[in-house]
Amino acid sequence: MSEDLKLTILKRLDADSVVEDTTAAFTDVSVEAVLGALKSLEIQEKVAYKTLATEVWSLEAEGRDQLDNGSYEAQIFAAVPPGDVGISIDELKAKFGAKANLGQGKGFANKWIRKNGGNIVRIVDRIVDQTRADLETVHKTGTHPDSGVIKTLKGRKLISSTKLLSYAVRKGPGFSTELKKQATDLTAEMLHSGAWKSAEFKEFNFDSLGANPGNGHLHPLMKAREEFRQIFFETGFVEMPTNSFVETAFWNFDALFVPQQHAARQLQDTFFLKDPEVAGSLPAFWPEVKEVHERGGYGSIGYRCPWSEAEASKLVLRTHTTAISARMLHKLAQEPYCPAKYFSIDRVFRNEAVDNTHLAEFHQVEGVIADKNMSLGSLIDFLGMFFEKMGITNLRFKPTYNPYTEPSMEIFSWHEERKKWMELGNSGMFRPEMLRTLGLEEGIQVAGFGVSLERPTMIKCGLDNIRKLMGHGVDLSMVETDPVFRLDKEMGSGSSQRAK
Ligand code: PHE
Repeated sequence: MSEDLKLTILKRLDADSVVEDTTAAFTDVSVEAVLGALKSLEIQEKVAYKTLATEVWSLEAEGRDQLDNGSYEAQIFAAVPPGDVGISIDELKAKFGAKANLGQGKGFANKWIRKNGGNIVRIVDRIVDQTRADLETVHKTGTHPDSGVIKTLKGRKLISSTKLLSYAVRKGPGFSTELKKQATDLTAEMLHSGAWKSAEFKEFNFDSLGANPGNGHLHPLMKAREEFRQIFFETGFVEMPTNSFVETAFWNFDALFVPQQHAARQLQDTFFLKDPEVAGSLPAFWPEVKEVHERGGYGSIGYRCPWSEAEASKLVLRTHTTAISARMLHKLAQEPYCPAKYFSIDRVFRNEAVDNTHLAEFHQVEGVIADKNMSLGSLIDFLGMFFEKMGITNLRFKPTYNPYTEPSMEIFSWHEERKKWMELGNSGMFRPEMLRTLGLEEGIQVAGFGVSLERPTMIKCGLDNIRKLMGHGVDLSMVETDPVFRLDKEMGSGSSQRAK
């Protein structure tokens, strides 16, 4: 804000004591600039001001037309020839269109013209076009001395108004023509030089809203992911590297003891890559995988079906992060035994029909625990603890089938609002056919589970359509305004049955 303008205002006040109307006094400055200067001077008590609002009238298009061409009633009058015959109403209508009716009405009211059968004839010889004269006054001065005229013209929708702000200013208790820059800080220099004694300090504005930092925002899903990550870290898990969306069928299926004839492998569920179609090579232990699939081992008779290296070499978009768990378990087996807890939260892809709750890709939250004394009981115990941290306490487990786990359990929780058991995920004890082939010695058991990240996030954000959470249907303002994600009591399933 210009210091000049402030000085100008102060000087004017010094000379005249008051400024009656800033718009008249400072013609070439915008109202905003004047107001800014006044506000700043007011804080320093140099001035006091009052807002003056004036209504300024201007012509609407129809008003403009009547100013230029005469009022409709005058135009109609001019079109009526003197004498007793006059002009037919139809002719006027043809000539003036919609204006004809308006002009005639006014002409009748003014007693300029009258009806004579189907014709209009003059009553007077000459008229004064007062409407046009009034419009001219408004046009030139922005108003009219007769408020009745303003009312009529406004009623005829010939004029409209805008409010103009202006200010009346007088000296304040701290008036002076000297403008000191207000200090915002007490500095060491000011103390040193003694300048602080005469300095004027700017007052703190505690009402100021502060600038919006306009920083980036985490997507709600990523906020939810962060919450899950923290729970895993709290419970001693290590994050798995999940940065490759493309896997070999070998790691996605075969290493997990998923038979090559399994329906999930077929096109309906798996996205196979076209280019490149296959991986260059398979891990060195592939013959052991072939062996366990075809003939079994570790107490299993295997699938007794041919196992093809070519099938295992196919590249797929991973259908679950369990592919990475398998890689990690294989890696774990290469080192001296040590119990391990791994987790990952990342994207997986399934060639499924897309609907309100399913997309062709979603995020899987996966955990595996490898330990010598791991049992189904310890998995159930762990899952209870894990979901408790999210405020979900009422769990139930239902036996299910996974090619790679035995026993396998679906995890359900009671959803109080919907009054039904909702599936949270899948879990189980990895089979020896898988673990031993990956190289884990006998006696090491591995439990695993997978849940979707989308489901709790949708519940938490109150979304009923997954497309509002993933992809181009996401409302960006939601991303900006959605609060921090907390997996707490209110989150959902079973929460109301939480122990008091
Ligand atoms: N891979 C399973 C799924 O996609 C989840 C799971 C992981 C199940 C580990 C058991 C063990 O649903």
